[in-house]
Amino acid sequence: MTHPPASDYFSEAASVATVNGRIGAATDARLAHVMARLVTHLHAFVQDVALTQDEWGAAIGFLTRTGQMCDGNRQEFILLSDVLGLSMLVDAINNRRPNGATENTVLGPFHVADAPEYPMGATITLQKGGGETCLFEGRVTDLQGAPLAGARIDVWSDNEDGFYDVQQPDLQPRHNNRGVFVTGPDGRYWFRGLKPVSYPIPDDGPVGQLLTRLGRHPYRPAHMHFIVSHPGHATIVTHTFVAGDAYLQSDAVFGVKQSLIAPFEPVPEGATQWRSRFDFVMQGGAAS
Ligand code: BEZ
Ligand code: FE
Repeated sequence: MTHPPASDYFSEAASVATVNGRIGAATDARLAHVMARLVTHLHAFVQDVALTQDEWGAAIGFLTRTGQMCDGNRQEFILLSDVLGLSMLVDAINNRRPNGATENTVLGPFHVADAPEYPMGATITLQKGGGETCLFEGRVTDLQGAPLAGARIDVWSDNEDGFYDVQQPDLQPRHNNRGVFVTGPDGRYWFRGLKPVSYPIPDDGPVGQLLTRLGRHPYRPAHMHFIVSHPGHATIVTHTFVAGDAYLQSDAVFGVKQSLIAPFEPVPEGATQWRSRFDFVMQGGAAS
């Protein structure tokens, strides 16, 4: 049996070099780079905080419980990424846009791919009664201000109690407060829904416990979700936030950007109680 050279044995002083030195020559270059940098940062972190054995055990337990809370309906790891600001950071570095283009924000776990397409002006609220009604309207243009025909606008929001349809399949009709609209030649959109309300992210799992331990609340400011897509333009995954919401400065998932705060105006004696106008500006040259 041959023995490895002394430098291949683990030591505190050379831990990074020893671990990264094992990466094989034939490894995919990007994977090798990302993993080597991850090991470098992880080891530096453990040194920095002088992680105790108990803390390491607690972290393993936390990550285990997080994984155990992931299935087709619940994704606790994405929630963890969200509350650590990682989802927003990954989104930011991958969606840098010129001034004037509508900014992205976090997708969140409540999008569904098969929402019904409606004609302009339709209401997305299938369950009548509660909540304050709102007209959402605006234009989809390119950076030069030219209207974009055929832009697909996929929207979803919570109900008056702060829940999405998929969170309450026994209480809300399927596709309540969600729908798809396609712009005509003028690039305009308009539809009716509810004025969104602020709500807590799912906080009955390890991520909720972490927020509590950190003295953080789980609330998101009220928002309407939008995915705006058009051939030849960068897809916008975003929300409009209700101006004046109490949680704008402390969104649990760091999703708020100043440019996404939209006016919501009362409409006396209108067909809806509120109106919110927001224009989407798409960056050309990149279909994503
Ligand atoms: C949402 O806005 O739907 C959302 C985003 C991140 C985590 C939980 C919910
Ligand atoms: Fe949301």
